[in-house]
Amino acid sequence: MKIVPSGLVLGAVIEEVDLAQQVDPVNFAKIVRALSEHGVLRFPRQTLTPIQLKQFSQRFGSLQASPTGKDCEAGLPEVTILSNIVENGKSLGAPDAGQDWHTDMSYNSVVGYTNVLYGIEIPRRNGEALGATLFANMKLAYDDLPERYKQSLSTAVAVHDFNKFWEATRARPGSKRGPMTAEMRALLPPSRHPVFLDHPVTGDRILYANPGYTVAIEGMSEVQSQETLNFLFAHQLQEKYQYVHRWEVGDVLMWDHIGTLHMANPDYTASERRLIKRCQVMADRVFDPAFVQCVLAPLAQA
Ligand SMILES: [Fe+2]
Repeated sequence: MKIVPSGLVLGAVIEEVDLAQQVDPVNFAKIVRALSEHGVLRFPRQTLTPIQLKQFSQRFGSLQASPTGKDCEAGLPEVTILSNIVENGKSLGAPDAGQDWHTDMSYNSVVGYTNVLYGIEIPRRNGEALGATLFANMKLAYDDLPERYKQSLSTAVAVHDFNKFWEATRARPGSKRGPMTAEMRALLPPSRHPVFLDHPVTGDRILYANPGYTVAIEGMSEVQSQETLNFLFAHQLQEKYQYVHRWEVGDVLMWDHIGTLHMANPDYTASERRLIKRCQVMADRVFDPAFVQCVLAPLAQA
């Protein structure tokens, strides 16, 4: 297995490993370390069944299943389908275009650790791949923060709320969504997380707030909280922290939710087919030092 860093602010390509097979413990440890160090990993030219995608993904932690049982593989609610394809009047999956910058699952008490996406159909126009995924490096964003923010927010806690994303989607032209129902609100209550997290694998300090879901900083007036968040959002989305992944058919793309933000570029039309299968891994194990120690142990012995 060969790890080739992009040399940019994020990203590495991992060659000479077949994710359809059981990855051996040494290579698995290298992948976990590379995911934390490079944030975004591309495994080109993979061929995976949905079950193989699930088997690889679940080694990193528990998988978030489709809450509705829709937009997923039959009998495999942990393997969700992102697609704009409509066949016989039926959508093949959930559309995934047009989302603003966010971090998956920051609105849950157990946040997201990593996404594993498998690109099956990728739209192209004039030889260029469409529907790129953009990322931003939150270790660099933290490192560059003015010292006064590092000090004043060192123990701050932010509130994350799925409703923010829901309302942003509702506000788009043509949206027919109603407000979140009381039932939805009860299932998805706001969550609280430190504004700065220590990465469980690297120990690096990370800016953990995102425009998609973060709504407030506790203990501040509404004005102060909004001003602080506006500053953090503008700071973290500077182009110098960004990396773009342009998809190829057969790519497996993983990224570290703890250390990055992402967004999907909606630059393709309904007739330009896109089909991606996805597993979302929760950070239910990676914050346990014993899990990380156990996963990385083969590197010390190798
Ligand atoms: Fe996402």
